[in-house]
Amino acid sequence: MEFAKKVLCIGAGYVGGPTMAVIASKCPEVQVVVADINAQRIADWQSDNLPIYEPGLDEIVKASLGRNLFFTTDVASAIAEADIIFVSVNTPTKTFGIGAGKASDLQYWEKTARQIRECSHADKIVVEKSTLPVRTAEAMGRILNANDEHVHFDVLSNPEFLAEGTAIKDLLNPDRVLIGGPETERGRAAVEEVAALYAHWVPRERILTTNVWSSELSKLTANAFLAQRISSINAIAALCEATGADIEEVAHAIGRDKRIGPKFLHASIGFGGSCFQKDILNLVYLCEHFGLPEVAAYWEQVVSMNAHQRTRFVANMIAKMFNTIVGKRIALFGFAFKADTGDTRETPALYVTRELVEERAHVVITDPKALGNARRDLADLPQDLITYEADPYKAAEGAHAIAVMTEWQQFRELDYKRIYASMEKPAFVFDGRNILDVDALYDIGFSVYPIGRPGKSRI
Ligand code: UDX
Ligand code: UDX
Repeated sequence: MEFAKKVLCIGAGYVGGPTMAVIASKCPEVQVVVADINAQRIADWQSDNLPIYEPGLDEIVKASLGRNLFFTTDVASAIAEADIIFVSVNTPTKTFGIGAGKASDLQYWEKTARQIRECSHADKIVVEKSTLPVRTAEAMGRILNANDEHVHFDVLSNPEFLAEGTAIKDLLNPDRVLIGGPETERGRAAVEEVAALYAHWVPRERILTTNVWSSELSKLTANAFLAQRISSINAIAALCEATGADIEEVAHAIGRDKRIGPKFLHASIGFGGSCFQKDILNLVYLCEHFGLPEVAAYWEQVVSMNAHQRTRFVANMIAKMFNTIVGKRIALFGFAFKADTGDTRETPALYVTRELVEERAHVVITDPKALGNARRDLADLPQDLITYEADPYKAAEGAHAIAVMTEWQQFRELDYKRIYASMEKPAFVFDGRNILDVDALYDIGFSVYPIGRPGKSRI
């Protein structure tokens, strides 16, 4: 079949895979190829066992696979054929050299840009999907356009705002699509080509176009604002615990103010995920780089508050459990960084597990989707102190405490009488997500400690 346009995405991860599957399903006349250097990932995308879990993803991939959606490890050939190339390779926090711990590690991005340059023999549009520091597109434009073949590249920024667990919903019905491009005639035409893809299903008034730098910075800013709301509510949660106020009531009361709004005000064990911390640290680094140390310190505090929330949670567990957890079995309910995903990147559960193992507790981890990732993440810890258990009832058997790490619906629906009967006494519940009914658990016999709300103690 002859396709009207050929789109390629380099990077078949949490962002690239779902985004391209949706573009393929909505633009049947467009060929969509997803390329990745990881052969296992590419094989998995074409199997019945997709490499990531997202509600609705299986159906959408199956509908287009082999029709106009293709996966490949042959990045070079895919580049040569494509008209529009999205780049969605990872940009983790740098772990070495200048800016270590804050700046973005751009090595994969730059390597990809050079490969695009080498394999291109005709003009192309290159779109950064990966979240990148402001002005990266400009730098990439310079690398790409320094070629001997007089091939011209237009570099655009089209950040992805999908959240994991709701990726397909967010992609099908985005609040906005943002496309930044150079303010030249060519640049505007390139932006229009990418906008035309989204216009297959997104109303035009939701497709925003800006200059490249605004687009890059908007992505970092959106994540910084979202994370800041969580750290803000968690800061107030600490005060609630000290004063007897209830964070749910406070959140409800302030959320009724239309200027504040009710969303993203759930106190928790802290935010996780691949983006928030990485993007804020990147923002901090940029501010420092541009000589704005006060602005940098302001945003860095959002990350410090998040770390404090986890440490506070573990300290509270130890204090309530008579100041020692050595040899005690503790069941962690959930390991994913949020419900409806198997993703464990930067999950608070990772830090909590490490701190509990440091205290020589025996940690039993249960999660409906994330046990495989948990095993990999914790491989360096003494394995005699960790058990992975798919069945939450078995995980809780003989445990001194349950600590809720992820707000999976399953955990709300368990038979806590049965669980209580199988546990060591006194039995504790530390609810890091405020999903369980404090009174009902207390009536069963538990001592219960939620976040930012009065607990109920039997000891
Ligand atoms: C990534 C970035 O982390 C994020 O900043 C950005 O907003 C979107 O892209 P994600 O899709 O979650 O997010 O990353 P990941 O699941 O790690 O996928 C990246 C993929 O790129 C991996 O499958 C990796 O194998 C691939 N890759 C990486 C390449 O194909 N080539 C490379 O040179 C490097
Ligand atoms: C986030 C942004 O929402 C998304 O727009 C961007 O593209 C990528 O980063 P994601 O990390 O997938 O998406 O999940 P999100 O739903 O934002 O949750 C992030 C973390 O914050 C999770 O650990 C979640 O449990 C936590 N959270 C969220 C809270 O603790 N309280 C809340 O009220 C909301």
